[in-house]
Amino acid sequence: MRRVSSVDLYNTSYGHSALEAYRQVRLETYGEDFGQTSWTTSEEYREIARALELRRESNVLEIGCGAGGCATYFAETIGCRVAGLDVNCEGIAAANALAKTKGLGDRASFREHDVSKGIPFEPAVFDAIFSNDAFCHFVDRLALLGECLRVLKQGGRMIFSDALVITGAITNEEFVARSSIGRYLFVPPGENERLLAKAGFKLLRSDDTTAAAAAIAERWSDARARQKSVLVAIEGEANFEGLQRFLQCVHALTAEKRLSRCLYLTTKP
Ligand SMILES: C[S@@+](CC[C@H](N)C(=O)[O-])C[C@H]1O[C@@H](n2cnc3c(N)ncnc32)[C@H](O)[C@@H]1O
Repeated sequence: MRRVSSVDLYNTSYGHSALEAYRQVRLETYGEDFGQTSWTTSEEYREIARALELRRESNVLEIGCGAGGCATYFAETIGCRVAGLDVNCEGIAAANALAKTKGLGDRASFREHDVSKGIPFEPAVFDAIFSNDAFCHFVDRLALLGECLRVLKQGGRMIFSDALVITGAITNEEFVARSSIGRYLFVPPGENERLLAKAGFKLLRSDDTTAAAAAIAERWSDARARQKSVLVAIEGEANFEGLQRFLQCVHALTAEKRLSRCLYLTTKP
């Protein structure tokens, strides 16, 4: 059954990614503007590149690339080749426009694709895969992990974050607010580790990044409040308020560690 989101985050963020108000919100939220829409700090971007051991020769896949901020950053600063997949056409349009503006040529390419239907690449073509806060949208995570394993080269590395690990009590109203922007899979601690092992990955490391996510959610909500008149004109009052409730809910759940965000670094043995 297809679920219709009651609040839109991705179309408004990606569709207006280049507008000054959204740029300012990202700058105040993350400190650096990469066109990101996630709980990933700039420091985590750099840690992802280090953990994946990215080099100029690396062929890299991003799952749920959104507006392409992280992928273009890696292509630009490391010189690697990055392919991004996302189901949102506004995100892909913004990502391709960003790659063109940065003159990345064929080092960064973005394609609209629903990854729950599989990964549209040949087996064993990627040295590394990363995914920032997109895995939470995949209900059949084992199937997704199987596809990731298929397209990764032997010895290749993958890193992904999951902001929906349940580590405390959550009310039904909080579940509704936290899920208002799309379909989500909430998992108990240990579930990602279990699925990774079942799919055939070796877990190298997992890090708890909940505190950083809590800080981002608070700064994001505050930054949006400062741009309220411009954002309401674009998003409408109901959507603006819905997104503020979503961000405040993320902040409360993560600040109180009732919902945790973890980063998983894995390899294909
Ligand atoms: C939290 S956003 C993160 C975007 C980007 N990684 C970033 O850091 O800015 C999650 C992304 O997952 C994408 N997504 C959700 N379901 C998907 C699917 N079935 N196939 C591909 N992408 C999907 C959404 O469109 C969204 O862009």
